[in-house]
Amino acid sequence: MKGADAVLRKQLWIGGSWREAKAYEELRSPYSGELLAEIALAGAEETQDAIAAAHAARQAMRAMPSHERAAILERVASALNARRDEAARLIAAEAAKPLKYALAEVDRTVQTYKFSAEEAKRIHGETIALDAAPGGEGRLAYTKREPLGVIGAITPFNFPMNLVAHKVGPAIAAGNTVVLKPAEQTPLSALFIGELFHEAGLPAGALNIVTGHGHVAGEAIVTDERVAKLTFTGSPEVGKSIRAKAGLKRVTLELGSNAALIVDKDVDVPRIIARCVMGAFSNQGQVCISLQRVYVHEALFEAFARQFVEFASRLKLGDPLDPDTDVSAMIAEKEARRALAWIEEAKAAGANVRLGGVIEGGMLKPTVVTDAGDTLQVSCKEIFAPVVVLHKVGSMEEAFQRVNDSRYGLQAGIYTNSLQMALRAADELQVGGVMINDIPTFRVDHMPYGGVKESGLGREGIRYAVEEMTELKLVVINRNE
Ligand code: SIN
Repeated sequence: MKGADAVLRKQLWIGGSWREAKAYEELRSPYSGELLAEIALAGAEETQDAIAAAHAARQAMRAMPSHERAAILERVASALNARRDEAARLIAAEAAKPLKYALAEVDRTVQTYKFSAEEAKRIHGETIALDAAPGGEGRLAYTKREPLGVIGAITPFNFPMNLVAHKVGPAIAAGNTVVLKPAEQTPLSALFIGELFHEAGLPAGALNIVTGHGHVAGEAIVTDERVAKLTFTGSPEVGKSIRAKAGLKRVTLELGSNAALIVDKDVDVPRIIARCVMGAFSNQGQVCISLQRVYVHEALFEAFARQFVEFASRLKLGDPLDPDTDVSAMIAEKEARRALAWIEEAKAAGANVRLGGVIEGGMLKPTVVTDAGDTLQVSCKEIFAPVVVLHKVGSMEEAFQRVNDSRYGLQAGIYTNSLQMALRAADELQVGGVMINDIPTFRVDHMPYGGVKESGLGREGIRYAVEEMTELKLVVINRNE
């Protein structure tokens, strides 16, 4: 895959070779403004060619034995592991993700491809006792799972390598082909992975990468009849519009949230502070399950708020490529200004900004807000910024009710020493995943991951994504004949 100019000019990857685009756009570091590359802007025509290439490669992928699909995925995982530092620096440069978190993302991506390789070997159905129904006697029935065909994958900037892996890994594991449209802010990580798949022996056309703008390339993928399934991570607004245009395609939507944590009155505050701060500010809060709302029992609210602010004030802001940096620039300055406007709105309504609330050197400082009403934007919308709102609650009932009073429902956490309370949280919280004695930000890559309400539809986590990327077929054998 060496045809394109190595450093600056990045073309489209279609049908197993580089393809020139009609237009290019500069990609700059969100932190320093440094020019990183010129990125091809896929038009409708190039995107249709990518879909045609994926469509043509369907039979080759469908016919490929699972051990070969697994071997390709294993080779991608090993190659990525061998180029760990280079990959992390790419993520840090294009997404301004601090290097320590970028390295962690690369490690997770390796895991995601390894899990995909393992899942490729255990895609199977079940036998069904048809004689459970009168008339079913003498018949043997079994199910099998078949690839869907072309998967359209649209991925976000915040985990530019691992969220690509969460779509491409299971799609290839299941014998599908892919047209990938990475976030326009972070195309380099996706192209890097494309190169690894090519070197690992993936057939031409099985993975196509169209960079550029969502309203052109994304739109062409969403509306094309040859695409069997769409898998999207991004905002609820775009998710809803994708679903509305998808026709009969299958759709998995992993959308946002204003993830919440409950802290019960019996919790040892110093024990949990470091983890809570990490959950709120890692990757500048640009994580769908970033800790945005904390409902703390009034018995320890002040102690929690004081220790949280103390710990967060020690975070080091700066260059994402500096290994000591904890927090860097958000993906775009306009996003930092938007978050700041929400903070200002909260202040004007009587909230206290106990830390941060300012942009310095282009970076929004980690911000801690208290005394904010639930209807303010900082509380009720997804802020996707290094901002956390601490709420005081008088009882756990109040905490459950306020956590659930949200348009989102991705993951929630509760710290408690009461088994009763933990089990109540598991029953009552309206989310896709409840983390007991942990922050809502917890995720490892094989667990089912997805939300309810405006947080989305369907589940990722390799085995669950493979299910959504395969068709269940029933076979019935009549032994009476
Ligand atoms: C996301 O932001 O949806 C992904 C979070 C993660 O994988 O940790």
